[in-house]
Amino acid sequence: MKGYIDQTADFVRRQLANAEAGHDWWHILRVWNNVKLILADEPADALVCELAALLHDIADSKFHDGDETIGPRIAGEFLRGIGVDESRVKHVQDIILHMSYRASLGGEMFHSRELGVVQDADRLDAIGAIGIARAFHYGGFKNRELYNPAIPPIIHQDKASYKNSTAPTLNHFYEKLLLLKDKMNTGTARALAASRHAFMEQYLEQFYAEWEGKPAR
Ligand code: ADP
Ligand code: NI
Repeated sequence: MKGYIDQTADFVRRQLANAEAGHDWWHILRVWNNVKLILADEPADALVCELAALLHDIADSKFHDGDETIGPRIAGEFLRGIGVDESRVKHVQDIILHMSYRASLGGEMFHSRELGVVQDADRLDAIGAIGIARAFHYGGFKNRELYNPAIPPIIHQDKASYKNSTAPTLNHFYEKLLLLKDKMNTGTARALAASRHAFMEQYLEQFYAEWEGKPAR
C-alpha cells in the first residue's frame, strides 16, 4: 500500500497530464523539490507541506472562470478519500486557498508556518531562469506583447487590477517577479531567491541592450 504522498503524487500526475506548461506536473515536481529543500532547515508538518505542494495547482481559478474554491474542494475530496486526517485536510485546503500572489493582494486572512514553506517553494519557481520561461510562456498563451516601451509597469494595489492586466510580459517582471525575493517567509528560500533574482536583473539588462540594438555585452 502506497503512502499518502505517493498516492497524491500519482493522482496529481494523472490530473495534470494535459495541463499547460506553466502549471503542469513538472512545475509541481519542482515546487515539491523546493519544499523538501526548505523543510531540511525549517520545522514544519512535512506531510501537510508536501501534500499542499502536490495539490496547490490542481485546479487554478484562472482556468475555471475565476472560481477560487474548486482547487481546495478537489484537494479535500481526494485527501479525505485516501484517509488523511481531517485537521490536515483542512490545513491543506487553507494553504491552497490563501497561498497565491493574487490571494495575498486580497489581504491574506490565513497564515501558518506550512503555508509559508509551500508559498516560498512556489514563488521560487516563478523567478530565475524558470521564472523567465514561465512568464513568456504565460504571455504567449495570452498573446501579450513581449515588451512595449510606451506601456510602463504599474504596481498593482489590488487583486482585480493584477488579474485584469493585459500589459506586456516584461511588465510582469516589475509587477511581480522582482518583488518576490523580499516576500520570502524562510531563510532557505531567501538565499535561493537572491541568485535567481540577480540572474533576472542580468537578463533584463541584456534584453534592453538587444532591444535598443546596442552591441551585446
Ligand atoms: P499566482 O497563483 O501566484 O498568482 P500565477 O498562477 O498567476 O501565480 O502564475 C503562474 C505563472 O505564470 C508564474 O510563473 C507567473 O509569473 C506567470 N504569470 C502570471 N501572470 C503573468 C503575466 N501577467 N505575465 C507573465 N507571466 C505571468
Ligand atoms: Ni504553482
